[in-house]
Amino acid sequence: MMNNLKIPQHTAIIMDGNGRWATARNLPRSAGHKAGAERISDLLKSAKKFNIPFVTVYAFSTENWKRPQPEVDALMTLLDNFLTSYTGKLMQENVRLFVIGRLEQLSNKLQKKIAEAIEKTSKNTGLTFTIALNYGGRSEIADSAKKIAIDIQSGKISPADIDEKLFSTYLYQPELPDVDLLIRTSGELRISNFLLWQISYAEIFVTPTLWPDFDENTLLQAITAFNSRDRRLGGLNK
Ligand code: IPE
Ligand code: IPE
Ligand code: MG
Repeated sequence: MMNNLKIPQHTAIIMDGNGRWATARNLPRSAGHKAGAERISDLLKSAKKFNIPFVTVYAFSTENWKRPQPEVDALMTLLDNFLTSYTGKLMQENVRLFVIGRLEQLSNKLQKKIAEAIEKTSKNTGLTFTIALNYGGRSEIADSAKKIAIDIQSGKISPADIDEKLFSTYLYQPELPDVDLLIRTSGELRISNFLLWQISYAEIFVTPTLWPDFDENTLLQAITAFNSRDRRLGGLNK
């Protein structure tokens, strides 16, 4: 059955529910984040098995700074450790890493690690794995508009050149295609400022599964749901 499935080219995931997973076990929220981060290795394995070329995960939003400082610190430490311990695995699995977001607001140490991991994996030809970190969809669009304004001011482009295609080239990572399948775990029915430009025509799959419980079977459910959708893209059924 799996062989007949249409595979979404770009799958994006709002990894939500770490806090609730931990609370249900009488654990601190940080334990939920840790358990969540540990799911990434399986996610990459499953994505490879299903031949999904682009997987993007929402790890930290521009709004997540509102959380208590100890939780923010725990998340940043986790991301730092993730980059340290996973870069070898990404090389082994031929995974190319992208990171999108306002990275300049992260610590210098983290920025440096991110740049190194991106550089190290840049020639890998397998799956492209993107981490959205200090990412906001509105920030991305505003930052793109700013870069376009600078290029107009310097005479590189003119206002008449601006169309959807050109605008896309000013996003954080122009190589990312539009999202075909957007997954949100933990049952919340909202976008929370994720990839606003790129999800324009994404199919949405919401699962009650909390992120630390996400596995290959949940991913298969999402792909199966994607296959049952009639993607008219504004047109009519053939
Ligand atoms: C998602 O889990 C991870 C991040 C936002 C970093 P949450 O921490 O939002 O978990 P819940 O929603 O409180 O259960
Ligand atoms: C979205 O989850 C952000 C990430 C998963 C990184 P949140 O838990 O922050 O979103 P809200 O607050 O429920 O909208
Ligand atoms: Mg949440």
